[in-house]
Amino acid sequence: MSSGADELREEVRRRYAKAALRVTEDRGGSCGSGSCCSEGGAGTASFGEALYDAEQRDVLPDAAVLASLGCGNPTAVAELHEGETVLDLGSGGGIDVILSARRVGPDGLVYGLDMTDEMLALARRNAADANVKNAIFLKGMIENVPLPADSVDVVISNCVINLSTDKAAVLAEVARVLKPGGRVGVSDVVAEDHLTSAERAERGSFVGCIAGALSKSEYVAGLEAAGFENIEVSFTHQVADGMHGAVVRATKTEERGARGLPLAAAVGTSGCC
Ligand SMILES: C[S@@+](CC[C@H](N)C(=O)[O-])C[C@H]1O[C@@H](n2cnc3c(N)ncnc32)[C@H](O)[C@@H]1O
Repeated sequence: MSSGADELREEVRRRYAKAALRVTEDRGGSCGSGSCCSEGGAGTASFGEALYDAEQRDVLPDAAVLASLGCGNPTAVAELHEGETVLDLGSGGGIDVILSARRVGPDGLVYGLDMTDEMLALARRNAADANVKNAIFLKGMIENVPLPADSVDVVISNCVINLSTDKAAVLAEVARVLKPGGRVGVSDVVAEDHLTSAERAERGSFVGCIAGALSKSEYVAGLEAAGFENIEVSFTHQVADGMHGAVVRATKTEERGARGLPLAAAVGTSGCC
């Protein structure tokens, strides 16, 4: 990776470490004067805790709610079922991991992956305070996920993919760790197709979740290239001029047999072709 990308990633890490420490040290909201996923936004309703309904917020530790820096509610997008294994990319203070862990129940498992030590410490504390036993927080990069292939039913993420300096690597990793037929349910900032990279950067910074956003057709093309189908990118709320909080859904293509059928159907019971 180029040193420019390394520097950008380090800036992201520093910014979100500071945000975690603000919550840990009980200094109110996690981003102070809009230094995270909020600057350039259309007010606090565009990012963070306001995107969760009161019922969800009420059952969460205060610190998990305060640390919420997302641009949607992926737990509402992904339709999780009991017993499933879920991976949250860029799990931050753990809000979506805790909500998902409750949804998949004791037979399910939720991994939270984040590169920032301070966020991981905050998330582990929040999960313990919420008495969640079926969650594991991993340190690592979303571009190089520390999990085996075909090990996860659902990948969720909340306002993190826009912060990656290598989005093709992220989508390839999502495809690798998902089981065939596995699902993606992500909230992210997405630009309208007519906005150039320079125009996106005029509307907010990279660490503020704006400048690094993909456009809708870039997202669709990236997911197609990584092997996804049933792709849907829908805008939910405007966060800057021509830029939106969006819901991204897709399914990992089932392995195909010679006749274009899912492998299990193509092979049939005889195991032959
Ligand atoms: C905007 S916050 C969102 C946190 C959480 N998803 C939420 O909704 O509150 C971004 C989080 O992603 C993490 N992050 C950003 N880029 C990452 C990367 N390339 N690999 C792993 N974690 C990353 C940051 O450390 C931070 O915790």
